Amino acid sequence: MDFKLSEEHLMIRQAARDFANNECLSGVIERDEHQKFPHEQVSKLADLGFLGMMVSPEYGGAGLDTISYVIAMEEISKVDASTSVCMSVNNSLVCFGLEAFGSEEQKIKYLTPLAQGKKNEELYIGAFLLSEPEAGSDATSQRTTAEEKDDHYIINGVKNWITNGSSASVYLVFAQTHPEKGNRGINVFIVEKNWPGVKVGAKENKLGIRGSDTHSISFTDVKVPKENRVGGDGFGFKFAMMTLSGGRIGIASQALGLASGAMERSVAYSKERKTFGTEIKNHQIIQFKLADMATRIEAARLLCFRAAWQKDSNSDYTESAAMAKVFSSETAMWATSEAIQIFGGYGYVKEYHVERMMRDAKITQIYEGTSEMQRIVISRGILK
Ligand code: CAA
Repeated sequence: MDFKLSEEHLMIRQAARDFANNECLSGVIERDEHQKFPHEQVSKLADLGFLGMMVSPEYGGAGLDTISYVIAMEEISKVDASTSVCMSVNNSLVCFGLEAFGSEEQKIKYLTPLAQGKKNEELYIGAFLLSEPEAGSDATSQRTTAEEKDDHYIINGVKNWITNGSSASVYLVFAQTHPEKGNRGINVFIVEKNWPGVKVGAKENKLGIRGSDTHSISFTDVKVPKENRVGGDGFGFKFAMMTLSGGRIGIASQALGLASGAMERSVAYSKERKTFGTEIKNHQIIQFKLADMATRIEAARLLCFRAAWQKDSNSDYTESAAMAKVFSSETAMWATSEAIQIFGGYGYVKEYHVERMMRDAKITQIYEGTSEMQRIVISRGILK
């Protein structure tokens, strides 16, 4: 067992840290306030190779391991969790699934520009359309239909809570083709946003990650060629579950970054702020809060690394990804709230960042599978 990061990992950490501090920090409060999509930041992520980090260079990716992805996600999330969620969805929910299960034609046509994050110099990212108004945690209850007709499918239905909803060019859409077969009747399709019958709904006005664009998307008689179905007939639900396991490592790392970013800010503040004639770092109550934060954050980081290492070693990482996500997201919620407590009244206003971080942390307990669903996955693994 070796806990040391490689030279390459250290370089990635530095590159991600520089990107976060130089490109994300200055406008992050304003983007949050006005729900402004971080277009410039995501474009620069594409230039850095961070939108297809784990994709093979043959298909336009950076060919890095999942540990590198965890490191980059943590660093960027310390500063701007709206930018990091766009990155996470493109990497884990879109590129991973297309590389693992897509046809050669799909990899050339869609995966390559998605991994590069650009097509004809324009931003080119993807979104994952599983959730529906009546199918969130209960993901098998898909109402969207994909009816097979000659050489194509006709898709009808509505998806919601879609990250990158309006900024994505390509959607991975889940739909029921054979309702009598339950989850085994679900398929997944590559659908281009500008195809006739695809309509992007209004942007959600959210508590946190307000820079990221979350929309509902409707499909009315959308004609999708058969070659855009990913995997065999009925493979869609398995595709969703396998892809989401990797996605959960991404969101766990996002939560880790929110927690460690809040802690770094708390440490800096405790060295400046004085009460009762001394810096607050000299009060044992603050020292104990920081000690607890550091311990829980390190445990979250180790869980993220372990899940990433299992994924890279081709072991089953379903449960370890769920453990990383539930623990990191709960740590993020707790640590950001503790950070506000350390900052006192200053923590409650926008200029000091930690209130935004607490709002951003909340969603990590919900999206890509709630904490409750992670506990289902973990307990099923223990009891099987
Ligand atoms: N790998 C491979 N196959 C898997 C799997 C996995 N990790 N998990 C389940 N499966 C298979 C099962 O083996 C089963 O196959 P068979 O029918 O062949 O036996 C099938 O999938 C159905 O599995 P379950 O019976 O376990 O299904 P379930 O209905 O009990 O649900 C669940 C299990 C874990 C709760 C699942 O529904 C789940 O993960 N729900 C949460 C959904 C979710 O994460 N949504 C997030 C939306 S996406 C999002 O947030 C994106 C965004 O934009 C940020």
